[in-house]
Amino acid sequence: MTLTQALTTAQKQFTGIVERPRFEAELLLAYHLGVDRMYLLTHSEETLPDRSGFEALVSRRAEHEPIEYITGRVSFYDIELFIAPGALIPRPETEILVEKAAKVIRREGLKQIAEIGIGSGAVSIVLARMFPQLRIVASDISGEALVIARQNIETFGLIDRIELRHTSLLDGIEASIEMIVSNPPYIARGVELDPNVQDFEPHTALFADGAGDDLLRKIITLSAERRIRHVACEMGYDQRERISAFVKELGVYSVDFYTDLAGLDRGFVLMNSEW
Ligand SMILES: C[S@@+](CC[C@H](N)C(=O)[O-])C[C@H]1O[C@@H](n2cnc3c(N)ncnc32)[C@H](O)[C@@H]1O
Repeated sequence: MTLTQALTTAQKQFTGIVERPRFEAELLLAYHLGVDRMYLLTHSEETLPDRSGFEALVSRRAEHEPIEYITGRVSFYDIELFIAPGALIPRPETEILVEKAAKVIRREGLKQIAEIGIGSGAVSIVLARMFPQLRIVASDISGEALVIARQNIETFGLIDRIELRHTSLLDGIEASIEMIVSNPPYIARGVELDPNVQDFEPHTALFADGAGDDLLRKIITLSAERRIRHVACEMGYDQRERISAFVKELGVYSVDFYTDLAGLDRGFVLMNSEW
């Protein structure tokens, strides 16, 4: 079997299952061969080595396993990270959260922030790379996610600026914090997701209590209790009304909601009143 034939076969298996069958077939074949996708164009008539190994990868993807968990790599903002099933695969829309947080950090000259729910490390690593003076303390309740985050933080040489804590929210974290950044789990329990998400990604990273906004509310309340002036959070497309009513009730100084590229509500940046 040539590389071209291998691609055609994989593409057929993926049709109707993945969004971009040809592209993902190329990504998997390039991963299998340890080359970049360009190589496939220039070596199309070469014989496929370890055919059964490639077929095994294709079957995993055809059974909905996310390609990022198969290859162990994910692109986020301007970096590529290691990823594994213990951590949520960072999403493109979370790059908007990074930009919203970065705007506040730049404007206010912030030096110490916290991320709640660091997952793979994507958000904290990108922010730490943007702002060389910034220190981040980052929590997660998942030990598996923290192992993945640590590996990525070490790869980018940021171990002295991103402190990891195995805890819920900011429990036990005493540092004085100027802003909370978070992409917490915000999907209501019981909501049915695509099989590639539902069956493979950690449910502690996806689902939260109530209408899915339980952790978002806790984060906002915590910011007021701890006198943390700024909060930037990602949220669900249908949570604006509830969050808006909640912050009004709490009397926060200002809240700006933002949308994603599809025009859906996706998060907010809020400022508490000065104390
Ligand atoms: C949606 S994922 C986001 C991961 C990463 N920040 C990103 O944007 O790709 C949510 C993360 O929050 C963590 N988490 C859930 N509940 C938490 C809690 N009470 N305190 C801290 N982290 C929590 C999950 O384990 C998961 O890693």
